[in-house]
Amino acid sequence: MNACRICGEKSIVEFFDFARQPLSNSFADAAAGGREFAFRLAAGFCTGCTMAQQLEEAPRDRVFPADYPYRSSESAGSRRHFTEAAKTLIATELTGSDPFIVEIGSNDGIMLRTVKEAGIRHLGVDPAKDAAELAAAEGVRVRVGLFAEPTALEIRAADGPANVVYSANTISHIPGIESIFDGVRALLAPGGVFVFEDRYVSDIVENTYFDQIYDAHFYLFAVRSVQAMAARFGFDLIDAEHLPVHGGSIRYTVARSGERRPRASVGEFLARERERNLSDPDVYRAFGARARATCGNLTALLRDLRAAGRSVVGYGATAKSATVTNYCGIGPDLVPFICDSTPAKQGTLTPGSHIPVRPPEAFSRPYPDYALLFAWNHAEEIMAKERGFRDAGGKWILYVPDVHIV
Ligand code: TYD
Repeated sequence: MNACRICGEKSIVEFFDFARQPLSNSFADAAAGGREFAFRLAAGFCTGCTMAQQLEEAPRDRVFPADYPYRSSESAGSRRHFTEAAKTLIATELTGSDPFIVEIGSNDGIMLRTVKEAGIRHLGVDPAKDAAELAAAEGVRVRVGLFAEPTALEIRAADGPANVVYSANTISHIPGIESIFDGVRALLAPGGVFVFEDRYVSDIVENTYFDQIYDAHFYLFAVRSVQAMAARFGFDLIDAEHLPVHGGSIRYTVARSGERRPRASVGEFLARERERNLSDPDVYRAFGARARATCGNLTALLRDLRAAGRSVVGYGATAKSATVTNYCGIGPDLVPFICDSTPAKQGTLTPGSHIPVRPPEAFSRPYPDYALLFAWNHAEEIMAKERGFRDAGGKWILYVPDVHIV
């Protein structure tokens, strides 16, 4: 039995095995040919501290290389979300004289741009050099590298303590999460907060978002497991807020133990998670069974469409699509190409499944009969942008919460 990466107990119950999987953002490696790195992607649930987590770890320097192609600014929805996140922090936590905020995983600076425009001292930390350069070009202060205690101490020595440490879709990516909390402890000013957002395992389980499990998403957070994790590292979970992004996320706010009183929201989430049996391994096993069924239904649909001579194109070369295409066995024979707006992904191949990635302009030349929407979390935005597809008689295929055509 595996030991839990958070509490150390040998109490992990495996609930899903995706078998060998590539790294979800290794588009360039796939296009370069040669052997691609692969690892066993399997997920388990700790019956001790309740943290859902992967059983094997892909090396972080490979998961987040300097040329990591993901760009947070690719969607209008994300731009709106991060502008709002920045405004909220400015109004609530960055109100003192000369406040300072550090963002872990600042990517292309999408959130810190608003902070910079407000004239507030800030620093982004990110190992993805190419993305960090885009942030710097916007006037955002960035430091290329991983965040851990030594980094935090250097930042504190140079800039002073931070009132807020913020991070979105990054903390769950770090198996050795203790290093993050050690860094936050070293960096936070007294009374400061660590605010982080991540996909919510309750939404993942409820909607069978099995494609949210891939190399980067090492942990699947719940309010209960985050509370236990924070306590283990000397922090209290003082607030939890549900966010609609990525199919459902939570913004967690933690503070050093005893410094702030938890809000009612924490207890409310804990009660809801109890109602949903989120601490019962059987709930995760049932999720796994539904994921298997979805894969079977999706490949059957794609084969039927091919047999009937219908054309299908993918939309959104997401990290999520790596899990779907590789686990379900979907290659260019079923989906000849995927359109994606990210320049760094265009002209490459999807990891493992080797489906060519083309710019969105390729979508309408000519429109296919069906489009498989891998970027389902941006469905509204993409469907509005590609209105012409529906007008031309095209139909969207979605596979969450189950396989359906709209
Ligand atoms: P996203 O779902 O945000 O994340 P992940 O890669 O973690 O699964 O990725 C969305 C992808 O879809 C990204 O590669 C950009 C692409 N995209 C488009 O091609 N067009 C669009 O209009 C939008 C919003 C996204």
